[in-house]
Order: sequence, then C-alpha cells, then structure tokens
Amino acid sequence: MTNATDFLTLSNGVKIPSIGFGTWQTPEGEAAAEAVRTAIEAGYRHIDTAQAYGNEKSVGDGIRRSGINRDDLFVTTKLTNDNHTYEITKSSFEQSLKDLGLDYVDLFLIHWPRPMKFRDNWQKANSETWKAMEELYEDGKIRAIGVSNFMPLHLSALFDTAKIAPMVNQIRLCPGCTQDEVVRYSREKGMILEAYSPLGTGRIFDADDIRFLSSKYGKSIAQISIRWSLQMGFLPLPKSVNEERIRSNIDVFDFELSDEDMEFLSGSTGVAGGAPDPDNMPF
Ligand code: A2P
Repeated sequence: MTNATDFLTLSNGVKIPSIGFGTWQTPEGEAAAEAVRTAIEAGYRHIDTAQAYGNEKSVGDGIRRSGINRDDLFVTTKLTNDNHTYEITKSSFEQSLKDLGLDYVDLFLIHWPRPMKFRDNWQKANSETWKAMEELYEDGKIRAIGVSNFMPLHLSALFDTAKIAPMVNQIRLCPGCTQDEVVRYSREKGMILEAYSPLGTGRIFDADDIRFLSSKYGKSIAQISIRWSLQMGFLPLPKSVNEERIRSNIDVFDFELSDEDMEFLSGSTGVAGGAPDPDNMPF
C-alpha cells in the first residue's frame, strides 16, 4: 500500500480505497461540506457518512464542490436505527440518495444491529432490512452492502435468511480496542473490517504511554494510530474538520511500525476507550 487511493477488494470484487474520510460528529452545513471538499482535494477517495449523522446533504455538497468525477469516489452511508424493516429501508435509502444528490452509493450499511425500537424483534427486523438491501444491491443502486457494530451473534442471525453475505463490518477499532472475536468471525465470513474512531474519537491523544512512538518514528500519534490500523488489515476512517489534520492523516505510507510496536499498540487496552455494547445502546 503506498497511498490513500490504493484499494482493498471486497468479496464481490468491488474495490474500496484503503482509507476513508470519517464524518461522524461533523456538523451539517459549511463544516461538513468544506471538510469533504478538502479531503477530496487532499487525496481521499472514500467518504463515510450515515443517515444518523445528519450531514448527508452537506457531504453531497462537498463532493460536488470538489469537482471530482463521481465514479472516482467511494461513498458510504448507513441506515439509521428507526428505519429498519423492508419498506422503510427502501424509502429511507431513496431519501439518502436525494440528500446526497447521488444516483447510487458504493456501500450501504445497517448502522446498529439491535436498536431500541426493535430490541425485542431485532432478528426479524434485520432479516427484512437485509432483504430490502439485497434488492437495492441487485438493482444496481448500491455497489456493496454490509453492517456496522454487528457482533458474531447478530451476524449469525442475519445468515439464517441472507441470500447475499455482507461485504463489510464497520466497528470501533483503535489501539487497545481490537475486538478480536468480532474481527476473526467477520473475516471468516469474508468481510472487510472498517475501523471507525481509529483515533479513539480523539481519546488517543490523552494516552501518555504510547506517546514515545511519536518521536521514535517522527510521526504524530494520529499517524501512528492510522498506520497501526492499516497494518492490522483494517480500513481506517479518521474524522477531522481541520485542513492540516485532514492532510496529515493520510500521510502514513512512508513508514512501517515494527512487529513489536504493533503488538504494544494492540495490547494497550483501554487507552482510547473500548467497544460499545450494541445490544444495550440508548438509541
Ligand atoms: P478535529 O475534527 O477538530 O480535527 P476519530 O477519527 O477516532 O473519530 O477521531 C476524531 C477526533 O480526533 C476529532 O475530535 C478530531 O478533531 C480529532 N483529530 C483528527 N485528526 C487529528 C490529528 N491529526 N491530530 C489531533 N486531533 C485529530
């Protein structure tokens, strides 16, 4: 891998740029539009948003402002929690297309496996949702489909009725939060692991005991963390609204972390927070 436009290949053959630009907690409006435009100008070719982030319209604006050819970009959005089940999945997907101002998305994910609204019948809700997503995929409106925050038990339930296996599982992964069992299971089923919060949603910067790596490699803690993610075989989705950080977060292809330092970072449990429990989220 030599730059942010290098690809991983999903199980259906679709190529996905090896770093994505995260937009969680980037507010709708100028902030999101300019962050996305800047990211594309800096070299990102993969943008990650979600219905729940409330910024799809501005993400779309940013894409248009960049002037990039649509087909040179990989765009992901996610189905929000209240929109599970067959009909609403389809109608809310159409709304996402409208908000983004696109006529297809590259990747559509179920955001959470067991939201409040479907806590007692989540298996059925996910099964119906997935059927709708499979149809949208077969209709060519989505180039790949997947899930987010799914644990092995949620995936296993999905496989009971799925015709098409998810191609991606997007979960929280950062130094010290490696979710080994989820990663192993997802890979066994052919999924690529995307890493949201690769900087621990900013918490990595408070972790004193990994700071020495910054001087050792002459790289920022953000770059060390993103590099760790790439060497783990994950697809990191760093978020920033700051131009300099946006640029530096993809300047991670001119160094390599040693096996020893990789192990140290993986084992730095809790320095940047752990994984959420998707069965008990308050939404
Ligand atoms: P900002 O948007 O102001 O740059 P994560 O990607 O794990 O969700 O982390 C995002 C958080 O980390 C945001 O608060 C973001 O703030 C901050 N951040 C992103 N890149 C950097 C960087 N290179 N240096 C310091 N903070 C960063």
